[in-house]
Formats: sequence, C-alpha cells, structure tokens
Amino acid sequence: MPRKNAKILDGLDVNLRFLKEIGVEDLNRSVEGKAVKPGTPKPAPHTPQGGGDGTPKPAGSSELDELHTTILACRLCGLAEGRTRAVPGEGNPRAELMFVGEGPGRDEDEQGRPFVGRAGQLLTKIIAAMGYGREQVFIANIVKCRPPDNRVPLRGETAACTPYLLRQIELIGPKVIVALGKTATEFFLPDAVGSMTSIRGRFYDWKGIRIMPTFHPSYLIRNEGNKGPKKMVWDDMKLVMTLLTGP
Ligand code: URA
Repeated sequence: MPRKNAKILDGLDVNLRFLKEIGVEDLNRSVEGKAVKPGTPKPAPHTPQGGGDGTPKPAGSSELDELHTTILACRLCGLAEGRTRAVPGEGNPRAELMFVGEGPGRDEDEQGRPFVGRAGQLLTKIIAAMGYGREQVFIANIVKCRPPDNRVPLRGETAACTPYLLRQIELIGPKVIVALGKTATEFFLPDAVGSMTSIRGRFYDWKGIRIMPTFHPSYLIRNEGNKGPKKMVWDDMKLVMTLLTGP
C-alpha cells in the first residue's frame, strides 16, 4: 500500500478509536441523518451579530486582527512578565461556534497558539468528531498569557484580561460558546452552583448567546480511565451540533 494511504488509514483509525471511546455509536449517521465522515465540514450559514448595526462584517476581520495585535503587546497584568508569547486565540473570525478554555499552557506559550498541547490535541479531535475543522470555529481562553506553573488565573488577572475576550465575542458573534472547565464556566455563569456534572448538559443564555459548559479536555486526560466524563462531553457536543444544524 502506498505510504500516503497507510498514513491516512492510520489517522482514520485513531479518530475512530477516539469516537468509540467517547461513546459515538452512530458513526454512519450525522445529526442530519446523512452519512458523514468524522471531520467533514458542515455548511454553516451564519450571520455574525458583531457589526452592531446589523450589517454583516467582511470576511476576515481587521478589527479582530488589531485586537490581537494589542493583546500580543499587552502588559496589563503580571502574567506578561512570565510569558514567552501572548495567545490571543485563533480560528474563523465569523465562527458560529467558539470554545473558551482557561489559559495557555507551556506549549501554547511557546507557540503563541491556543490548545496545541495534549489537551489541545484532544480538543481538536472533539471538534473533528463534531464535523468541524479548527479553522471553522474560534478557540480562545479566559486569560491570554500563561499563568506560572499552569495555576488557575487570579481574580485580578481575569479582570484585566477578559475585556479582550468580551471584544472577541462581540466581533465574532458566535451562536454558541462551549465553556471548557471551571474557570470559563465561572466567567460566563457566575451564578451556577454545583459540580460540573450537575451544571453541564444544558444551554444557558448569556447576552443572547447559548453557553454550553462542559469538562475541560485536561480533566478528561487526568481521568483517562473514567469513560463517564468523556461520554458527558460528547453528549454536550451532540446538543451543540443539534442546535447548530437542527435535529
Ligand atoms: N488549556 C487551556 O485552558 N487553554 C489552552 O490554550 C491550553 C490548555
């Protein structure tokens, strides 16, 4: 078999094993009931709300680019001291679906890109299993610079940094935001009480955007032997897919 084909088959095998592990049983059916390969992009009609005056924004967003240039030079909090690079976030400037994590880890700090380490690889697989590519969604974090030793961002750091996230959301205008883990969930849903298990599994309204809180990919990695949280994340992502593409 040509080496290229063997590589493609290997990749498919990894994807299929992952999907099975997280409880995807109906691989021959998409949420629309049509055959779909994992990773097949979905057509996603979407009018971003971020223009403010109701006019659609041009493809790409120079305002978002300008914001990211500001973030790269930001020194508003102490996290700037220890960073290699700030990590503004990346993806489709008109994405209907956003993922928001906590903050960059070591790999992200080195590369200046969100979710590229181990947790990022898992998130990328989840996104692919939903039928999207990373470039079709937008991936961002609560804080844009790596907290030392990957600690949880301090209140002041979050307060200094989240105006950037709010502006990103305003410019992108997603329909759904997946809040990955406790830090992101607390930011969007400060009144939600209880464990992630009890909070997740339903949408919350936040400024007219649907928020889906779910477990952080790092939590799934830390609890690798436990299929429960993976299954819950996949159930949550199925709700997101249904909301975006219809039942
Ligand atoms: N964890 C996060 O919350 N964000 C990243 O970008 C990477 C790991």
